[in-house]
Amino acid sequence: MINIDEIKNRIKTIAENYKDEPTGGYISGDGPIPADILFVGEAPGKTEVEEGKPFVGMAGKTFEGYLKTIGLTRDIVRITNTCFFRPITIKEGKNGRTSVSNRPPKQSEVNLFKEVLDDEIALVNPKIIVTLGNVPLKRLTEFISIGECHGELYFNEKLGKHIFPMYHPSSLTYNRSEDFHEAYEEDWIKLKEALKSLE
Ligand code: URA
Repeated sequence: MINIDEIKNRIKTIAENYKDEPTGGYISGDGPIPADILFVGEAPGKTEVEEGKPFVGMAGKTFEGYLKTIGLTRDIVRITNTCFFRPITIKEGKNGRTSVSNRPPKQSEVNLFKEVLDDEIALVNPKIIVTLGNVPLKRLTEFISIGECHGELYFNEKLGKHIFPMYHPSSLTYNRSEDFHEAYEEDWIKLKEALKSLE
């Protein structure tokens, strides 16, 4: 089986050779191998590339806070992404200044890393994969939208793995409704119960 250094090298090669759209650096996954729980996010942002680790920026702080509420810490779970480079948009302002912002990865960009993520899943061999947001959900399951499936435990025959879909932690910033925040918190409690059921 492929090892983690080969996976890192493949990410490097793919990211460095990709010229179709602007990107702002790349990272690989973080955490123990093997691990019982694998969280899969969307793509790294600026802070993640700077620190070389997934989920260390604003969304990461939120994520880590919730992880603690169910008795978990980063050092015992594996965290990775669906797209391993930072997808960016570069805009030229009227004043000649350029601004750089994150953008969601395109389907073609997700596809570039299909084999990398599949190999990482095989290597980590988790009991459960927790998808964070729509991008990993669509990549790893047949679900169309996180709204239809979040907070429930599924067994994915194709992967031979349990999957627990969750909203992306940054959705808390976009959706400020109290109902949404309550539902999000409830999903973490349901994740704790799902983990217990798999012990
Ligand atoms: N959001 C993600 O989806 N992944 C990261 O690594 C950071 C933020």
